[in-house]
Amino acid sequence: MPGVVIVGAQWGDEGKGKITDLLAERATTIVRYQGGNNAGHTIVRDGEEFKFHLIPSGILHSDKACVIGNGVVIDPRVLLSEIDGLKRAGISIANLRISANAHLIMPYHVLLDTAGETKLGKNSIGTTRRGIGPAYADKALRLGIRVQDLLDEKILRVKIRAALEPKQQALRELSVQRRKERKAAGEETKPATADTMGGIDPRPDLHAMVEEHISYGHRLEPHIADTAKLCWDALDSGETVIFEGAQATLLDLDHGTYPFVTSSNPIAGAATVGAGVGPTDINEVWGIAKAYTTRVGAGPFPTELHDDVGEQIIEQGHEYGTTTGRKRRAGWMDLVGLRYAVRLNRMDSLAITKLDVLSGVGPLRAAVRYRSKEGAILEEFPYHQSILHSATAEYEELPGFDDDITSCRSARDLPAAARDYLAFISEFVGVPIKIVGVGPSRDQVVLLD
Ligand code: IMP
Repeated sequence: MPGVVIVGAQWGDEGKGKITDLLAERATTIVRYQGGNNAGHTIVRDGEEFKFHLIPSGILHSDKACVIGNGVVIDPRVLLSEIDGLKRAGISIANLRISANAHLIMPYHVLLDTAGETKLGKNSIGTTRRGIGPAYADKALRLGIRVQDLLDEKILRVKIRAALEPKQQALRELSVQRRKERKAAGEETKPATADTMGGIDPRPDLHAMVEEHISYGHRLEPHIADTAKLCWDALDSGETVIFEGAQATLLDLDHGTYPFVTSSNPIAGAATVGAGVGPTDINEVWGIAKAYTTRVGAGPFPTELHDDVGEQIIEQGHEYGTTTGRKRRAGWMDLVGLRYAVRLNRMDSLAITKLDVLSGVGPLRAAVRYRSKEGAILEEFPYHQSILHSATAEYEELPGFDDDITSCRSARDLPAAARDYLAFISEFVGVPIKIVGVGPSRDQVVLLD
């Protein structure tokens, strides 16, 4: 099984980090292939909690190569602060490798992401405001700055200047807008500075930006590599390489609920582009889904709960974002969406996480079809966004369970209702469930065969 992709099957935050951490035991190499520090993985190990935004979860295994692939967008300041945090915790980063071809999130990307969201007001996408969209946009426009550019001051200067050129007007407007806002709020009215703009200078000083980024380059240089070659060497030697997706299928730029999506392709197929391997290098695809559904940010969510059960799930599941701290929206398991994700990614296996959270919520519901506002039955995930936005979910109701299942370690330990719920999911989507999460710690899992 040399090439294994791990992909989110819903709208993100399914607990991919924990499953990656578990499956990493059989791998020599773990590769992130898209997204940036909009992602957040929390891994609990021996009671200690680790949060990562950019560094692949496998970093806790000192004997594995941990790769940030070319498809990732990297905010170097965030990456360096994660590196510093790991060093402080005594965790080696000697095996961290960063693709020279990965693109950078520059300070102006963060600023433009925030400005874009503010401008859209109540119609905003609810991005993480980490600069993801503007960084991928510059990549597509061929105005991106890549990791390798950090190693060449002359090239870096030319490229930053070219990237800033078409943004000057927007940055100027933003600076004026902020000044007006501060004036209206009775605050000081001097021109905006990095201090009043969340640490980002709205009138970037090219020289200072180049200097700053060259210093990042010095620090990152020992880790910068040809990471595609590193993957080929591992795969060609028969080693297992895990390709770890961030975000999830329904947030995919092409196949998700556009425009309420992220700006990259989390689906399994994108692992080839984002890491530099061929489709036949992928032998196994694992989908990760929560036992219920959550979503952060705006966009359609047919099984969303707006009642006490939803609140109970949010509280029992601690459904607050790792990256932004935002309260997540919660709802029932959506099997229409899950079956769509299974097929899009051609999943072989599923891991269902956080089953313990459903203890005590009463009868369990799983959406088995949607109904359009005109009354049509929709068995498949509708491709038309207007239909999806107004569709309502129709459910199968199954008995719930009240037992505390956090110490269950085998299928036999689980209450019959929990087993039946899992069997129903698996049968509906046609894929075996092989791992079930019953608590936050890496050993709180039930392995099914
Ligand atoms: P962006 O990726 O910051 O541009 O945000 C676009 C959409 O994706 C927003 O709805 C975000 O809340 C959502 N999003 C981005 N990253 C994650 C994630 O890691 N988990 C869940 N949602 C995410």
